[in-house]
Amino acid sequence: MLSILTRGLTFAAIIFCSSSYAGNLIQNSDAHAHIDLDGPWHYIVDPYENGFYNHRYQEHTRDGYFKNAQVKHPSDLIEYDFASAATLNVPGDWNTQQDELFFYEGTVWYQRDFSLDKSRNERYILHFGAANYEAVVYVNGEKVGTHIGGFTPFEFDVTGAVKDGDNFVIVKVDNRREREQVPTVNTDWWNYGGLTRSVKLLTLPKQYISDYTIHLADDDNRTITGWIELGTGDKNAKVTLEIPALDIKHTLKFSDEPRQSFSIKAKPNLWSTAEPTLYEVNIRYNDRTISDRIGFRQIAVKDEDILLNGEPIFLKGISIHEESALHPGRAWSKEDARQLLTMAKDLGVNFVRLAHYPHNEHMVRMADEMGLLVWSEIPVYWTVLFERDDVYANAENQLTEMISRDKNRASVILWSMANETPKSEARLGFITKLANKARELDDTRLITAALDTSSETDKGKHIDDPLSEVVDVIGINNYCGWYGKKPAECAGIKWHSDYNKPVIMSEFGGGALAGYHADAEQRWSEEYQADVYRHNLTMIDNMSFLRGMTPWILKDFRSPRRPLTNIQDFWNRKGLVSDKGVKKQAWYILNEYYQQH
Ligand code: GCU
Repeated sequence: MLSILTRGLTFAAIIFCSSSYAGNLIQNSDAHAHIDLDGPWHYIVDPYENGFYNHRYQEHTRDGYFKNAQVKHPSDLIEYDFASAATLNVPGDWNTQQDELFFYEGTVWYQRDFSLDKSRNERYILHFGAANYEAVVYVNGEKVGTHIGGFTPFEFDVTGAVKDGDNFVIVKVDNRREREQVPTVNTDWWNYGGLTRSVKLLTLPKQYISDYTIHLADDDNRTITGWIELGTGDKNAKVTLEIPALDIKHTLKFSDEPRQSFSIKAKPNLWSTAEPTLYEVNIRYNDRTISDRIGFRQIAVKDEDILLNGEPIFLKGISIHEESALHPGRAWSKEDARQLLTMAKDLGVNFVRLAHYPHNEHMVRMADEMGLLVWSEIPVYWTVLFERDDVYANAENQLTEMISRDKNRASVILWSMANETPKSEARLGFITKLANKARELDDTRLITAALDTSSETDKGKHIDDPLSEVVDVIGINNYCGWYGKKPAECAGIKWHSDYNKPVIMSEFGGGALAGYHADAEQRWSEEYQADVYRHNLTMIDNMSFLRGMTPWILKDFRSPRRPLTNIQDFWNRKGLVSDKGVKKQAWYILNEYYQQH
C-alpha cells in the first residue's frame, strides 16, 4: 500500500524529494516484543530434495522432512531425524561452519523447537533477517510461506499455526544459482547459503504499530513529517509520537484508514557525517511503545552537486562486501558491522557502498551512529534476464523489502538499482521501471546505478549510457590499469559526461597479495596495486564533474571466480586490506588522498 503524500517540488535544476513510502514489513522488528530464535538449529543436508519431493518428483504432502516425524513404534520406517542431527549456528552461512559445506549449493533443512504461552492471545509473526536464496518455512509441519531473494527480510503471520506449549519450526533453504534468479548464475562473490541473519518470533498484541516513516519534510528542515500505520484497523486508535529531545508529544487520531500522516514544526540538529545526531523516537499505542533512533537530514542533487543539508559534499568512500572481518563468512552481527565500518572510517571515508545487495540491518544502523553515508543496492548484477516479467517481479520485491526496512535510516542516501548491466532496450526498460518504483516507494532519497558501459572516443572516456537519464546520480565502474591499459596510462585519460548530474566513480582498483613485494610491473605485487591507485587518483583529479568514489574494495573477499593458486586461492584480492586484516601499500595511498582532499 502506498501513501499518497507525494509533493514532488522541482525548482530550476534542484530536485527536492517529496515524501511517500510503501510499507510491507513490520518496521523496526527488533523493537517489538519477540522470542529470539537464534542459536543452534539441527540441520539435514538434502542435495536431492528428498525431504521435499517423492520419487515421482511430486511435492510431499505427508512424508516430507517438514513433518519432523518421530518413531512411535519399533517397526516404524522414518529415514531422517532432526533431534539426532548435527547443528548449525543461526545466524550464519553454512559454508564456513562445516568443511563439507564450503562449496555446497543445494538444500539444507533447518529445525528447532520453541515453546509458547498462547494464553496471552497474541499475534505471532515469524521474522527472518534474510535467508539465501530460497526459503520454504513450516511451523508444526504446516507450510506458512516461501521467500526468494537472499538479502532482504521477510515474515509470515503464524498465529494460526502455533500452539500453546511445544512447537517446532523447519526451514528448507536452497542456495542453488539459477539463470532466472536475481542475481543470476554468475557473481563475483561467494554463494553463502543458509539462515544468514537472525530469526525471531514477534509476539504482538492484536492491535500494533506495523509501520512508520519519520523524516524531515523535503523542502523545509523545520518540519518533521511522515506517517504511522496500524497492523489492524482501529477507528478509536490514539497513537502518541514522542521525540523528547525536541519537546514533541504529538497525538494522532485514526479513522478507518490504517495509516495516519503527520507534520510537526521542529528544529532538530541536522544529522551529518560530522555530527550524526540521532533522536530517540517513541511511538505509544495502548500499552506498547515502539522506540527508534532517527536522524533528520536532507539529501538532494543540484546540477552536478550532491547536497547534504543544502551543502555540496564530496563522497569519499569505499566499497564493502557483507563478509566479516572477525570470522570466516557472512557478516551478520553488530560487532561485524562495527568492525567493518571502523576499518572504513580508519581509511578516512565519509561514505560506503554496501555492495552488491542489501547488507544486514546492523550495518545501516551502525552507519547512522558513526556518521557514514550509505549506497544501498539490490543484486541486479550483470546479466539477469531483463526480458522476463517474473525476474522483474523478483527484483522489485527485493527493492521493496530493502526500502521498507531502511526508510528511516538517515545514513542511506542512495538506492542503487543495478551493477554493470549490459546495454539493451529490455535492460533500460527493466531498470527504468525499478527506478520509478523506488521513487514511488521513497522519493526522499536519490537513485543510482553502477555502469561499466562508458564508450571510448578520441576525446577519451564518454559517459553516454542511456541509463544515465534515469538515475539522479551516475555510478561508473572503471578498471583502468587492471582490466586493460597499464597503470601509467590511466593518469592522462580524460572523461566527459553528457549529463548535467553528479557522477561517482563506484569502482576502480586492482588486486595484490598482501606481503608480495616486487617492482611495479609485477602483477599481484602490492607495488602494482599501489601504482593502479596512484595513477587512477591522478585521473580522478581531472574529472571536474566527479562528486564521489568508492574504490573496489575495503577487504579481500571470497569468490569462486578467483582460483589462482597461491595468489587468489578463491579470494578476490582487490582489497586494500587482506583477509587477515593486513593493510597493503595502496591503503596508505588512498588514506593520504582522503586526508588531503
Ligand atoms: C566488477 C564487479 C565486482 C567485481 C569486480 C572485480 O566491477 O562490479 O563485483 O568483484 O569488478 O572484477 O573484482
